[in-house]
Order: sequence, then structure tokens, then C-alpha cells
Amino acid sequence: MATTKRHTKEETHAVSHATVSAHTVKRVFNFNAGPAALPLPVLERIREELLDWRGSGMSVMEMSHRSPEFESINAAAEQKLRSLLGISEDYAVIFLQGGGSMQFTMVPMNLCLPGKPVDVLHTGAWTAKAIGELKKGILHNIAASTEAEKFARLPHFDEIKFSSNASYVHICTNNTIEGTQWTAPPDTGPKTGDVPLVADMSSDIASRPIDVNKYGLIFAGAQKNLGPSGVTVVIVRKDLAERADKNLPTLLQYRTHIKEKSLYHTPPTFAVYVVGLVLEWIESLGGILAIEKRNEAKARLLYDAIEASGGFYVCPVEKSSRSKMNVVFRVAGGVGRSAAAQDSEAIERQFAKEAAAAGLVGTPGHRSVGGMRISLYNAVTLEAVEALTSFMREFHRTRG
Ligand SMILES: Cc1ncc(COP(=O)(O)O)c(C=O)c1O
Repeated sequence: MATTKRHTKEETHAVSHATVSAHTVKRVFNFNAGPAALPLPVLERIREELLDWRGSGMSVMEMSHRSPEFESINAAAEQKLRSLLGISEDYAVIFLQGGGSMQFTMVPMNLCLPGKPVDVLHTGAWTAKAIGELKKGILHNIAASTEAEKFARLPHFDEIKFSSNASYVHICTNNTIEGTQWTAPPDTGPKTGDVPLVADMSSDIASRPIDVNKYGLIFAGAQKNLGPSGVTVVIVRKDLAERADKNLPTLLQYRTHIKEKSLYHTPPTFAVYVVGLVLEWIESLGGILAIEKRNEAKARLLYDAIEASGGFYVCPVEKSSRSKMNVVFRVAGGVGRSAAAQDSEAIERQFAKEAAAAGLVGTPGHRSVGGMRISLYNAVTLEAVEALTSFMREFHRTRG
């Protein structure tokens, strides 16, 4: 079992009867796709500050969102994201509720221009969800799709057919379910003029450097790379936020949240606090370049283990499209409905069961595609991937 055994120290707090008894903590290696692993130092910090946030005598959960304490937490989280990702003052950074999914509705509501379609690069289940919302009466164009190939690769740039007058282009930079990731966004400029690129970065934000200036809007649910569920980060060019009709529901206009610095209504205070801590942790490791190096090393180790298995493990994704965040593979090569595939599914269930027993949790693929999926978000350690690849070799040795 992969464990980190630690003893909490007896802590004293301003509230005299609040004590934490000593106990042993067992931690598994967590490869869940989201909500997902959080950095251990962040969890420890939360524990330290849980009952008394920096002398305030209360938990962040108990604070008024109008208090100077929470305002400082909110502002610090925004500032950390700005400095880590290099976000200029041309962009607003806001913390919203409703998850990544709410953005499938909110983005078109705010950014669509009359008679100008939304161009979508259709690369998997999450762009399908975005398209599903557009189908409810919004002019749109599928500028490229790899659905015919079961999304096992991303479109090549020369396959993309942008409209001449799109409101914006929608892209999902990392396809969490299919295990594909754009290495660089397609340039929407030369073909379409000044068409903003809207990126769903829910599963790869802050995992590698990006040039924010290439995007009109970026959104990401926090629960994979940035923190717990309950808060969604939106980075939006301020001028684009002004496209929205002022008669839209107040809460669904970006400008409302920009104007009120994410405090128009009660925000998910604890989630914002944890996002701030995660960003501080990234900074302490050396920032986004350092985290990218770490993420690359983890992904290389896992893909190499798959390739070295001689076909026992098979990654169905074309090499140039493979994600460094979500690695998908089949065990014993089975895909489809054949008897061999059914055997493979049984082996995959066994793989997940034995992995979990060995302290390697969250290995099954998304229920819509099956197979295995290993999420390697920022908080997942190299040690976790080493433990997983050892397990994979042993599983192959006894089953292959
Ligand atoms: C790429 C991507 N977009 C959107 C979502 C939806 O996010 P939420 O569950 O926060 O609505 C997810 C969730 O896994 C995702 O991976």
C-alpha cells in the first residue's frame, strides 16, 4: 500500500476546547480525473489553518465574504494566477460557480454576435457538451471534428475550416476523457481575422506555460489542477466581456463579476482559498515552467511503460495528440465487442481492482469509453507514477 504515514501534532487554538488528537494518516496514490489529488503540503496547510485562519479565530469557511480577511484571500488568489500565467491587465480574472459546464452556456450568451457563428473544434465528449448547448438555437459551425476516428487524434491544422465571420472559436485544450491535448492552439488569425479563441482548459490549466494573449477567454473548473470543486476560473479579455447584452440575467454576465471582483454574490469562499494555496504551492516549486517539467517527466514515464509492454498495454491515441494530463490505455489490447474484447474488459476490471488494493486509486477510464485512464495533474507526484508503472510491469508479468 502506498502510504505517507505522519503524525499530526497536538495543536492549540484560540478556542480552548478545539484540539486535534494525534492520529496516523494513510494516503493512497490518487489518479482520479476530477475532483482529483491535491498537493499534500496544501492539505497540511489547510489542516493547520482550519480552525483559526491566521489569527482570525475562525475558519475560512466561517468568514464573511465581505470581510477584509476574505477580500485578501480572494485578491491573493487572483494575483497569484496572474503572475503564474502572465495575465495582463487587458484581462479580467474571475471566480465563478456552475463548473466548467456552466461556461458552455455562459460563453455563447456573452460572446455571440448577431449572425456570426461559433466555430467549434470538436474533439471529444466535452466539446460535444458545448455543442449540445449551442444546438439550442445558436448559430454554429463544426470547424473540424475527429469523431469519425473516435477522437483518437486531434484535427491537423490543414483540416480546420473556420467560418469567415465567426463570433469566436471554441477549443478544448485537453480532452479529459479521450486523452488528447493540443500542444499549441491553432492560429485563428490569418484565416478569420480577429476571432477570439475560447479555450476550455478545465483539465490542463496551469500545467504548462501558455500565452494568454492568444486567447479571448479561458475557463477551467478548479477541481483538477487548481483546487477543489465548486469554483471555476474565467480569464476573459475585458473588451470581450462588454459584448454581452445588458439584459441578460445579471449573474450570467461576465461584467457583473468583473465589476464586483468575483464578490457580486456569496462566492465559494473555501474553494477560492484552496485555489490560492495551490497556486502558492506551484510558485514554491519554481512556477509553471517547473511544474511543466515535472508533468512531462510523469507522462514520459507512463507512456514509456505502455510502449515497453510489447502490446499488453495499448494507448489508442495517435502519438502527436497524446495528453500529458490524462493517459488512456487498454489492457491486453481489447476494444470493441469481440470475445477477446470482453476478456480484455474483465482484465481491465481486475487491473483496477488490484491497483486499488495496492493503493493506486482512480485507474478506470471514463464510463463512456472504458479502458484505463490515469490522470497526472499537477499534484500527482513522480513517486506515484513510479509506483503505478511498477504495478503495471508486475501485472503484465503475472497476466501477460
Ligand atoms: C475538459 C472539461 N470541460 C468541462 C468539464 C465539466 O466541468 P464541470 O464538471 O465542472 O462542469 C470537465 C469535467 O471533467 C472537463 O474535463
